[in-house]
Amino acid sequence: MILVTGGAGFIGSNFVLDWLVQHDEPIVNLDALTYAGNLNNLRSVEKDPRHIFVHGNIGDAALLSDLFTRYKPSAVVNFAAESHVDRSIHGPEDFIQTNILGTFRLLEAARAYWTGLETKSDFRFLHVSTDEVFGTLDADDPAFNEETSYRPNSPYSASKAASDHLVRAYFHTYGLPVVTTNCSNNYGPLHFPEKLIPLVIHNALQGRSLPIYGDGLQIRDWLYVKDHCSAIRRVLEAGRLGETYNIGGWNERANLHVVTTLCAVLDELQPRADGKKYSEQIALVTDRPGHDRRYAIDARKIEAELGWRPTETFESGIRKTVQWYLDNSDWVENVTSGSYRNWVEKQYA
Ligand SMILES: NC(=O)c1ccc[n+]([C@@H]2O[C@H](COP(=O)([O-])OP(=O)(O)OC[C@H]3O[C@@H](n4cnc5c(N)ncnc54)[C@H](O)[C@@H]3O)[C@@H](O)[C@H]2O)c1
Repeated sequence: MILVTGGAGFIGSNFVLDWLVQHDEPIVNLDALTYAGNLNNLRSVEKDPRHIFVHGNIGDAALLSDLFTRYKPSAVVNFAAESHVDRSIHGPEDFIQTNILGTFRLLEAARAYWTGLETKSDFRFLHVSTDEVFGTLDADDPAFNEETSYRPNSPYSASKAASDHLVRAYFHTYGLPVVTTNCSNNYGPLHFPEKLIPLVIHNALQGRSLPIYGDGLQIRDWLYVKDHCSAIRRVLEAGRLGETYNIGGWNERANLHVVTTLCAVLDELQPRADGKKYSEQIALVTDRPGHDRRYAIDARKIEAELGWRPTETFESGIRKTVQWYLDNSDWVENVTSGSYRNWVEKQYA
């Protein structure tokens, strides 16, 4: 049994679905079902006895203690977080609560459980983090590697940085067998349409404007979500304890390029009824405060040490993603309307 937190969110649900294809080991999936958590993502494993969903908060110490005692997990994979930078600017409180205090509670519960284990080497705690903890790069700077200093610039990245430091401290102070991954920007199926790629696809198909912050020349390093999931599985099985691994696919792209690529793929797969190009809907809007200019991941450590490689290029991953959104308009409809939340309330009344 492994304990996954945040497994109803974007990356967590992709991870759960992939894991159950690749492994026999069951999952207990703890998720608070915030606006970003979506049980629709897990419909295909709803009846799978290897997937146990628990509606709850990583900050709930009593619940965590009960879950560790009952399920005796061989590993924790911690995805649970508040994850949207814009939301962290308007309301940082939830980010502090979940990303810092929640991770602290989870570490404490894991430590208590692990301390009582007879075979201590039978457990590990994998903390999923972001490249945003490293701050921003200028055009000529080398990509972030595992030695790069932390310089977080948003409340989101600061809260993730704090959680990474706690995880590190639990290794050095208590010997808790931890490993941390810092990944670049993900995209792919089941991505809530507040983030750039699903937002652009959704707005384009709705005939709305496609907002791009500032000059659109901010660079992000993109990774298809399934490649992130395979990297996490690889680190879980072979990563060295106490180490951090940067995960990325060497796909630096300017936001404007990402949006025009999406428009071109949409022009091909679902042309506008009026014959015009989707790129006509692009609108530059006022930049986000503290907007980091460039992120880039040096992924040589995970490649050399663990033999991990991404399978998708940016172009192949983007095409798959657009196709997924075209094929799953009901999913988008559900997460953007109130009907999904009503359904959840009925399930867990
Ligand atoms: N999306 C990216 O590009 C990216 C890149 C690198 C790292 N990460 C990290 O990966 C993890 C997952 O990101 P995501 O994009 O899937 O996020 P997401 O916002 O889509 O999902 C987060 C999930 O955590 C759950 N959650 C939130 N607070 C919780 C709490 N207190 N207790 C239990 N569950 C809670 C939510 O309900 C949701 O299901 C995060 O830790 C994020 O920092 C994300």
